Amino acid sequence: MCGIVAATASREVSEILMEGLRRLEYRGYDSAGIALISHNAALQMHRRPGKVKELEYALKQTPITGFIGIAHTRWATHGEPSELNAHPHISGGRVAVVHNGIIENHGKLRDELIEKGYKFDSDTDTEVIVHLLHFNLETNEKSLPEALRSVVQRLEGAFALAAIDIAHPNQIVASRRDSPLVIGVGIGEYFIASDQLALRQVTDRFIYLEENDTVLVTPDFLEVRNRDDVVVQRKVSQITSAPEENMLGSYSHFMQKEIYEQPQALRSTLNQTSDPENPSLFGTDTEKTFDKVKAIQVVACGTSYHAGLVARYWLEELAGIPCQVEIASEFRYRKRVSQPGTLLITVSQSGETADTLAALRGISPGEFLATLAISNVENSTLVRESDLAFMTKAGAEVGVASTKAFTTQLASFLSITLALGRRNGIPEDKEKEISSALDALPDAVSSILKMDYQIRHLSAQFTRRNNMLFLGRGVYYPVAMEGALKLKEISYIHAEAYAAGELKHGPLALVDEDMPVVAIAPGDQLLEKLRSNLEEVRARGGQLSVFADPHSGLEPSSDLSILMMPNCVEYIKPIVYTVALQLLAYYVALNKGTDVDKPRNLAKSVTVE
Ligand code: M6R
Repeated sequence: MCGIVAATASREVSEILMEGLRRLEYRGYDSAGIALISHNAALQMHRRPGKVKELEYALKQTPITGFIGIAHTRWATHGEPSELNAHPHISGGRVAVVHNGIIENHGKLRDELIEKGYKFDSDTDTEVIVHLLHFNLETNEKSLPEALRSVVQRLEGAFALAAIDIAHPNQIVASRRDSPLVIGVGIGEYFIASDQLALRQVTDRFIYLEENDTVLVTPDFLEVRNRDDVVVQRKVSQITSAPEENMLGSYSHFMQKEIYEQPQALRSTLNQTSDPENPSLFGTDTEKTFDKVKAIQVVACGTSYHAGLVARYWLEELAGIPCQVEIASEFRYRKRVSQPGTLLITVSQSGETADTLAALRGISPGEFLATLAISNVENSTLVRESDLAFMTKAGAEVGVASTKAFTTQLASFLSITLALGRRNGIPEDKEKEISSALDALPDAVSSILKMDYQIRHLSAQFTRRNNMLFLGRGVYYPVAMEGALKLKEISYIHAEAYAAGELKHGPLALVDEDMPVVAIAPGDQLLEKLRSNLEEVRARGGQLSVFADPHSGLEPSSDLSILMMPNCVEYIKPIVYTVALQLLAYYVALNKGTDVDKPRNLAKSVTVE
């Protein structure tokens, strides 16, 4: 995690770097810092614990200027969030470094550097990088890029880093391994960042660095060397889409805005499946691969993992394809056996999640038929390293709690289910029913958004609770898991989801008048079973709130609140009910006054293991 941004230009870069940090804050917000080389070649720096606005305040109080600089927003791994642990880190008063990732051999390097006389000011793993760089510059008299290359050869672990040195006042050097880094190409200026989003205000041309590349940039010079120290040309990609709308507009939070953007996000995602011009989607390669698919393995983390769990019900029931779903951090370390003809589907909003990427990179040759990434970020590492890609068209998701990415992932999975189902003999009438359900999906989601007031009203009863249970059966079990995850990550209320049938095997012991239970009752063939589970809760004094189908036959009472959901076709209900749970989590967090978009201890993109 952490976001880094750097710029070398013939104009002031401090505001460019600060805007970059604002756009990268989704990657971490424990502390932030900026270092510039001033016009008289002095290193000036501000670092502040807390969010980027604290750094902004420091800059307003004591402005610093320069045509070259680096900046960082941190998600703490080694060392608490504090000014001393904030980046940039400095060595010998001349070199400054920002870093995203984890240096696994930092202990050994630290001991070595202490023996050489270096003093450490922070608890971070990053500080070894800056002292090593300084050592190479001072003692071995290397050029800045040579010194950086010597440093990265010593590093074990993941990094995207950028460095400046007052002895080379217009040069930035940078490198990456297992953490993302892009170069923004300007006219007479270059920029570097963890994500192109940070630089869309200054350029639309980007170079995506490969593993172990090192880079030197000045305002009018760029050199990329590969892992073998050979100068290479990396392609410059022009982004044609308009810069992402990064403004709240009339909304109070990005999460709220993103919940409300779902009808449009779903429309854009679904429209591309009918676009014959879109070869990456169901073009020849995908068609040929899909013809051979015998099984599916989904790998993902967090909310994206929940999307896979929902999809398993669809893929098996509607397309008749066996499907396994696994958390990436488990999958990557397990000895696995997959049946021939298995398609590996990785799911990731960011396309940069370290565990998901490592899972993809860790598969053996021939282990899978092919790899397909479902992602929201074009040119993300996951997309670039997969055989096939299905892009969700949700637009930038800024809120840490994933909302529109999840529902568009589900819509993508339903489209994939249909494509595979056609090859596996799905009855024509069922195929038509699912297709028209997908057409109706954006409007069905809009009808949930109209229930905003009712859901807000319901949320009040959970504000002072410490624990909650979410129940669902069948495909609604992973929907309940997603509801519980949303609630816990933004409201800090401990919430767990259970398959309703599992209640009596243990969790029922938790149920009393202090344990609110939220259940999803969509009126499917498991409704009667679910009703019995709900009675088990009521009999133990549990307070039930049920998101219910109009045909569920459930009646409200003193211990049972019912939120009557609009009627819609079965296949899209998991998506539609999820939106109601997102609103519930949003309003509980709002009532509690937590930081909805930037909940404590979390970051949007988890690029460390
Ligand atoms: O970018 P990804 O979809 O790979 O991210 C995976 C998880 O980190 C993410 O879904 C996380 O669980 C969200 N904060 C949940 O709202």
